[in-house]
Amino acid sequence: MRVRAALLLCAAACHGAFIRTGKWQKPKSAPVDYDRASPYGSWRNESYDWEAAKRRVLDHAMRDVARYSIDESHKSTKLALRSALLDKTHAIWILQGRLFVHKAYLGEMKRELHLRFMNSVLRKKSDLIKNVVYTFDEGASGPSHECDPHLPKLVIAKKNGEKQCGVLVPNPYFGDLYRNWERERSALVALGRRRKWENRRPQLFWRGKIRGREAVINKERDCSREAGNYARLQAASLTAHDAKKFDVRTNTCRPRPIRSLSQDLCRKVLPQNDDLAKIRDSGCRAVQGRFMNHGKFNTFQYLLDLPGSTTGSYSRNLNHLWLLGAVVVFWAGPLLEPGGALQWYSAGLRDGRTHVTVNVSTAKATLDAITDHVEWRNELLENSRGVADNLLCGECMGSYVATVLTSLRQRLPLLDSALNQRTHHTANATLAELLSRENCARHFAAGLVEVVRGTPRNRREPGWSITWRTAATGAAACDLLGALPAPFRDPKMSAAGRRGGARVRERVPLASSV
Ligand SMILES: *[C@@H]1O[C@H](CO)[C@@H](O)[C@H](O)[C@H]1NC(C)=O
Ligand SMILES: *[C@@H]1O[C@H](CO)[C@@H](O)[C@H](O)[C@H]1NC(C)=O
Ligand SMILES: *[C@@H]1O[C@H](CO)[C@@H](O)[C@H](O)[C@H]1NC(C)=O
Repeated sequence: MRVRAALLLCAAACHGAFIRTGKWQKPKSAPVDYDRASPYGSWRNESYDWEAAKRRVLDHAMRDVARYSIDESHKSTKLALRSALLDKTHAIWILQGRLFVHKAYLGEMKRELHLRFMNSVLRKKSDLIKNVVYTFDEGASGPSHECDPHLPKLVIAKKNGEKQCGVLVPNPYFGDLYRNWERERSALVALGRRRKWENRRPQLFWRGKIRGREAVINKERDCSREAGNYARLQAASLTAHDAKKFDVRTNTCRPRPIRSLSQDLCRKVLPQNDDLAKIRDSGCRAVQGRFMNHGKFNTFQYLLDLPGSTTGSYSRNLNHLWLLGAVVVFWAGPLLEPGGALQWYSAGLRDGRTHVTVNVSTAKATLDAITDHVEWRNELLENSRGVADNLLCGECMGSYVATVLTSLRQRLPLLDSALNQRTHHTANATLAELLSRENCARHFAAGLVEVVRGTPRNRREPGWSITWRTAATGAAACDLLGALPAPFRDPKMSAAGRRGGARVRERVPLASSV
């Protein structure tokens, strides 16, 4: 123990001495080029086509919906329901506008916030959504495995790009769409409008945590889990280099310790250099900054989005950056997808028009170019507000989610007919019949929970994001679920319906379309 302490002390204190005496020379790192030219070329003077942007967003979602391309059989419907029963911590049942989960689903913040989010969507859209079952993946990087082919999965981000399965929906931090989010959104947009460009600091701003010490790196493959922290440290090094232009600071700084470059497993993929070492070895003194809440973000001309610290995934911070009347800046770095993790509205964005993307070498020149080209800058400002208004409004997200769920219903018509019982084909099993063949006493031993409000029972009580009640336990839980989609085998069914031509037979006329 004491020997190790002495060695550690020496690692810090002997470091310089070795260099001076020439016994050990630190491997030289290439100096960072902070002055590369901006990759952005000529600026086009045309207004952004928001209708086209929204179409791209929907097209992207529909491509992922279309990947549920199994040849559905009665067996697959059975398998879908069984997967939902087994995946207790992710399965969501929406029946008659009511929201049910297994008791085991509760207790994780992001999953509970998704219930708050869905509770708000259902207040407006339950007529459209009808009855569905799906799994929700709260992972900030997206699913790491194949998705169940029978049961739809909704995801909030795809760090590794399109190849990941699942259909993208808004991350749960938007919360209650029509109440809280709309209120917060308009308050921040108003703040953003209030302060003119000329009255803002000519700086790129970011605040957050660097938590690399928590990362366990045993193989080079693990380094991708460090990409977010590396990006954050690298971006902060801009502030150490030029604090006038960059206010990229951290309030919790625990970077991954690197004792010797030659032993660093990540040296190839996350290259270290003297500037990063200086920040790390000084305990981040040069880049420390206090936490700031969103209400103050309007004092900056440029707002930076950095990937999530743990895995380099999407960052919830971006939800707000579009609202604040600043130019939104994305980060590019090693082991990160260009433009960051995919989110549901990524396809609606365009680099150079709604935002710009910089790395440690191009940041300075790109900000200078925007500052110098008033018209380009005005377009970027207008378009970031456009993202807030056209893609991130409460109704924009609510109708997007409703469209995704109804499209998934159409993609899996047998599962849909079990859940919505819109058929008079007696051969097609009802939800009640399918569930009666499962071991519900065991599946729901802990209980089936219904979300009754999108707010906690007691605001001061920590923990729950929602108010829930136990709806049933054991076999009674399946009885309850099975009884909800009241069967209707309508003798006066239309000819189209009888032929199976009408995909979705609605008892109530569709509420005003999205
Ligand atoms: C950009 O377009 C607008 C209207 O289309 C026009 O008034 C303005 O002069 C144009 N600016 C440049 C630099 O071409
Ligand atoms: C930064 O981006 C430019 C072009 O976009 C690229 O040529 C350069 O290699 C990048 N530099 C670093 C350090 O990633
Ligand atoms: C089940 O219902 C669908 C329509 O929803 C119909 O096309 C199909 O033929 C039915 N299957 C059986 C076996 O009756």
